[in-house]
Amino acid sequence: MGRVTSLDCPRCRARRPAEIGASTCPGCGLVLDILIDLDGITPALAATIRARPRGLWRWHELLPVEDPAHIVSLGEGDTPLLATPRLAALAGIERLYIKNDGLLPTGSLKDRVNTVAISRAREIGARLVATPSTGNAAASAAAYAAAAGLRCVVLVPETTAPAKVAQARAHGARVVRVRSTFEVAAALFREAVAAFGWYSTLSTNPWRNEGLKTYAYEVWEALGRAPDWMIHPEASGLGVAATWKGFGELERLGWVAGRPRMVAAQAAAAAPLVTALAQGLEVPVPVEPGETVAESIRVGRPNLGWQGLQAIRASGGTAVAVTDEELLAARALLAEHAGVFAEPSAAASLAAAIRLRRDGAIGPQDLVVCVVTGHGLKQPEPRSADEPPAPIAPDLGALRALLAEASDA
Ligand SMILES: Cc1ncc(COP(=O)(O)O)c(C=O)c1O
Repeated sequence: MGRVTSLDCPRCRARRPAEIGASTCPGCGLVLDILIDLDGITPALAATIRARPRGLWRWHELLPVEDPAHIVSLGEGDTPLLATPRLAALAGIERLYIKNDGLLPTGSLKDRVNTVAISRAREIGARLVATPSTGNAAASAAAYAAAAGLRCVVLVPETTAPAKVAQARAHGARVVRVRSTFEVAAALFREAVAAFGWYSTLSTNPWRNEGLKTYAYEVWEALGRAPDWMIHPEASGLGVAATWKGFGELERLGWVAGRPRMVAAQAAAAAPLVTALAQGLEVPVPVEPGETVAESIRVGRPNLGWQGLQAIRASGGTAVAVTDEELLAARALLAEHAGVFAEPSAAASLAAAIRLRRDGAIGPQDLVVCVVTGHGLKQPEPRSADEPPAPIAPDLGALRALLAEASDA
């Protein structure tokens, strides 16, 4: 199991013992970074890990849970990395891969962080876990809490997709719908944590964040190298920061040479990372999110903005704000040319790849990985075009006429 040696502030580098269980740097206010002891790891471990049964915890030496008995798993990890020739041809990117995290147990990337967060909760004896969420983190935390026998409270904006609310409730979580945005729900959550002493599974929990490093491990193992570009639909900044960190660990272990350029794909209506990068800021300025179909990434205050911007700059990457039109077009392409049904936010990575290829930043030969972070059943509407088909009378004539119409269309 991974031994946590310390909690470091990524900015002022102040080092604290792991035992204190702190989450943010009192000086900088940044979420602390977990340091795992890599010294004891030998090159042979890579082959050992490869030979283990599939799943995220086969990388446990690199993950911050001390006792395997505390692991709470629903079989997460090792999602497919799909080569998509038809999509690649349409995008003009010969080596385009889709990392399909819609196939995780609860249908989104949040299972990578919640398996670590809830295992840690069990490790420290927490009885209740809680989080604010745009929906997916709520459904995921509820499922893992149920599996662990812990109580769960989630706060979501009242507009959250019904499927995500139903999922969290099905797992027995107390779902609190807040009559406002995610930001306001998150502010109420911070008050509640202070008032009730809840164990938080939000991105301010350093243990939880380590779960997203596994993107780097799985992609490296599948490709045998680092891709040229890795593109994440981004809200908090964690996707790019944790993947960059994961490749950094693999590099330190001598298992990979080089790291990908990191790209944060944001919704144009909520793109504080894009603005901060363009303005040369170290920390994004919070924004009031506008209207967008991309509810999962409709976040105006990135909790790991500093870390995300650092990873983008250090990697020579970028951040792209995509419109709802681009998102829905990318979602349709994924579904119709790669067989991947994604929720709108999750298609931001492909929309950004298409934009960067069109603008010439991505070359035709580059090896590009787009992370698709959530399943389309989470938010099946809206489709980019027409209404559901009208029902027909139960007779062959009506069926023949409809099919003729479709083939004529
Ligand atoms: C489907 C989906 N994609 C991307 C994200 C962004 O994740 P992060 O907050 O780690 O940037 C979320 C967050 O809720 C999500 O649900």
